[in-house]
Amino acid sequence: MSRAHILGVGHYVPTKVVTNDDLAKIMPTTHEWIEQRSGIRERRFIEESGIGASDLAVPASKMALERAGLTEKDVDAIIFATLSPDVNFPGSGCYLGHKLGLPGVPALDVRNQCSGFLYGLSIADAWVRAGVYENILLVGSEVHSTGVEFTERGRAVAVLFGDGAGAAVIGRAKDDGKGIHTCRLHADGAGAEELWLPAPASRNIPRLTPEMMEQGLHYPQMNGKAVFRAAVENMTAVSRKVLEDAGLEMKDVDLFVPHQANKRINQFVAAALDLPDDKVVHNIERYGNTTAATIPIGLSESFAEGRLNDATVLMAAFGSGFTWAGAVVKF
Ligand code: UT7
Repeated sequence: MSRAHILGVGHYVPTKVVTNDDLAKIMPTTHEWIEQRSGIRERRFIEESGIGASDLAVPASKMALERAGLTEKDVDAIIFATLSPDVNFPGSGCYLGHKLGLPGVPALDVRNQCSGFLYGLSIADAWVRAGVYENILLVGSEVHSTGVEFTERGRAVAVLFGDGAGAAVIGRAKDDGKGIHTCRLHADGAGAEELWLPAPASRNIPRLTPEMMEQGLHYPQMNGKAVFRAAVENMTAVSRKVLEDAGLEMKDVDLFVPHQANKRINQFVAAALDLPDDKVVHNIERYGNTTAATIPIGLSESFAEGRLNDATVLMAAFGSGFTWAGAVVKF
């Protein structure tokens, strides 16, 4: 069976730059605290109310299609990874299909948080190899700035996240050894409430109360240290495993594109894998954590810098769920 491949990558971030010093003006935090703990210096926020994950996805998708030498009309299916959909339902993939002028094209939303792009990649890979669809538009897009709490109570989470979108077009590989070689997905719900959004929740009657809002339960809750530890451990393990599955060794990796949750997490993972820093993509300093968008933004910027040319690329992600995943792609 012939392989699937990433035919084009694109990204888009809003124009509004928010520095650590900007955040320090609205809540008790400092540039030094944020930079030292996470590596983040600035992030992007949507410019005004009404801009959703599907809006950020439009220019990212167009860039990916153009780089793939394709147009909107070539898209047979959309996979949209996000934890911050435009509205609770319907999915952002439906909005994106409409905005791209694609009536009737199926749209699947993937809700696997920071691992969402790699979960989507695995689905697209299987669909293309099985001949179900020919060209799949896979997007990771998030608007976090409207959903975090800019107060002392919420600061450990609020400083980490940013808005942005990344996209990839997945289609058939030419028979030249290039393409998606391995993809591996994992989940463990034992960690579900280490990083989660408790309210509104359909299991509660009612789903949301003024008391829940007073407690801040409509903002993400995170046990930072537990998530940090689990991220380092599982991203390292899944990276080793996908390389082994592909019959490759760490020295064969030209570029490592990890999820960008914390620069220190990625430095620990790279050190454990014995990967030198010049093979690791870091862009968290400019964008913060854009969850499902971090890996496709990293791929898109790497493409623009010529770093994907004939490169063997390792990807790994970890996040809420817990979910984690890895992939090896030869460009
Ligand atoms: O996308 C995947 C999900 N996310 C992650 O992978 C994130 C994983 N976790 C982390 O990156 C780190 O745990 C954080 C960066 C979130 C936090 O770093 P930490 O070293 O674990 O700090 P901490 O939460 O233990 O907080 C240390 C101190 C506390 O003060 P006290 O209790 O020591 O007096 C916090 O109140 O820092 C305080 N603090 C802050 N101070 C200034 C927490 N947030 C801030 C802040 N500015 N924004």
